[in-house]
Amino acid sequence: MSQSESGNLAILLPKTANKSSGFTHTLRFRLMLSVALVHVVLMGIFVAVAVREQSDKIQAELYSRGRSLVALTAVASTNALLTEDLGALAEIIHRVKSQPEVVYCEIIDSRGRVLGTTYPERLGKVLPLLAAQSEHFPLPPGDHVLDLQERIRIADQTIGIVTIGLSTVRMDSALAKTWRDGLFFILTALIVGSGAAWVLSLVTTRGLRNMMEAASKISQGNLDVRVPANSQDEVGMLATAFNHMVASLKQASEDAAQEHERRNQAERLACVGEMSAMIAHEIRNPLSAIINSVNLLGGDTLNQEDRSQVISILNNESGRLSRILGDFLEFAKMRESQLTRANLKVLIEEIANMLYQDHQAGKRLRLAIHCAPDAQMAVFDHDQMRQVLWNLMLNALQSMPEGGELSVMTRRAGEKIMVHIADTGCGIAPDFQKEIIKPFVSSRKGGTGLGLAIVQRILVQHGTQLSIKSTQHVGTEVSFQLNGIH
Ligand SMILES: Nc1ncnc2c1ncn2[C@@H]1O[C@H](COP(=O)(O)OP(=O)(O)OP(=O)(O)O)[C@@H](O)[C@H]1O
Ligand SMILES: [Mg+2]
Repeated sequence: MSQSESGNLAILLPKTANKSSGFTHTLRFRLMLSVALVHVVLMGIFVAVAVREQSDKIQAELYSRGRSLVALTAVASTNALLTEDLGALAEIIHRVKSQPEVVYCEIIDSRGRVLGTTYPERLGKVLPLLAAQSEHFPLPPGDHVLDLQERIRIADQTIGIVTIGLSTVRMDSALAKTWRDGLFFILTALIVGSGAAWVLSLVTTRGLRNMMEAASKISQGNLDVRVPANSQDEVGMLATAFNHMVASLKQASEDAAQEHERRNQAERLACVGEMSAMIAHEIRNPLSAIINSVNLLGGDTLNQEDRSQVISILNNESGRLSRILGDFLEFAKMRESQLTRANLKVLIEEIANMLYQDHQAGKRLRLAIHCAPDAQMAVFDHDQMRQVLWNLMLNALQSMPEGGELSVMTRRAGEKIMVHIADTGCGIAPDFQKEIIKPFVSSRKGGTGLGLAIVQRILVQHGTQLSIKSTQHVGTEVSFQLNGIH
């Protein structure tokens, strides 16, 4: 495939194809992040609910145990309270205190006197009855003792109050452990989830990465590349569609190349046919003149003077024939241009002066050459450019048989150098202007009509072409451009 063809297939690939653009911009990263976030949020909600339930359960358990204990203590201390048996009450307090989690225990009578307590300094003190500890459940934050009270009754009469304080330290550490377990669970879920997301994203994006690499190769003109399309999922279907697209692209490209070649062939054949017809037409006239002349010379009807005239015609026509064939050979066997940096001004002056001297005899002819200082050095094939300038200046001089002005100018236009050759000659009819570049088109007696065809071919090899502006009876300007050198 030629460079231009592969250029048509150029695909602009995003720079994300390489690692330098950052992992955070990749589809893989976004997929992982989404999965990890969903995991964390869901697991967070789940763990929060579980811990809350567990915490309620632990607190309710402690509360229920405390309530049983305080109720039992109230019943057990009824008689001792009635008889104000401080020894029995102390025994009860001692037994209650030996229960796990019990921080304190206190029994007061209906008048607020402390008759039994785990704090000896409070024994016998009178407390305002209603100022006895109030019960809190669930516990206020920061309080590590659960206070529980029970009235000691006989029938409907309250004879005292039992207050028990239970430590919540064990409950708190159980709750803390529940929270720790929950966090560990979230962390594990996060790690496992991210790992799973990583593997998932690898599998999912592998197909896309394959297609990206394939697209890059296609943009370099390789249409034989295919991507694996093994999976049945959307990426697999996309890969299948991608392969079909590349196959169609390859087919279309081959068809286009064949069509191009076919057209070139047809154009070449048509061109050969056209050229053959032109050559045949061009050589027919001089050839018939030569045949006639030879026939006349073969007879004995000519006197000496006629013979010399016929021989002169023979010479002219064979010379013309030779020139036509020489020019045509030159045109047909055009060699590749050898582009070098050279001085255009020197070449222009050399050719212009030579032609000017040949043509100035007996005419009022002027020559003006102006090469701008920054428009003198250019890139061209020296011999071929000599021929271009020679043919164009010769045409200009031939268009001014009565004299006039030939002006040659070079000027810079950006990176290019423009060359203008102008004359004040007969000019060219508008309809004829399109024709004169074709081979064997000439209005000049003795001209082969190959001059401009050769010029155009050389200029095309230099990456440019001839531009013609002409006004009949006013003059003609031809121009072309070359790559300049600073
Ligand atoms: N500067 C010009 N002014 C007027 N007519 C021109 C000029 N340059 C070219 N032409 C016309 O274009 C025709 C073709 O020119 P071209 O140089 O190809 O062939 P030619 O000059 O006729 O023959 P030769 O092959 O000997 O150069 C000329 O015959 C002429 O009619
Ligand atoms: Mg010419």
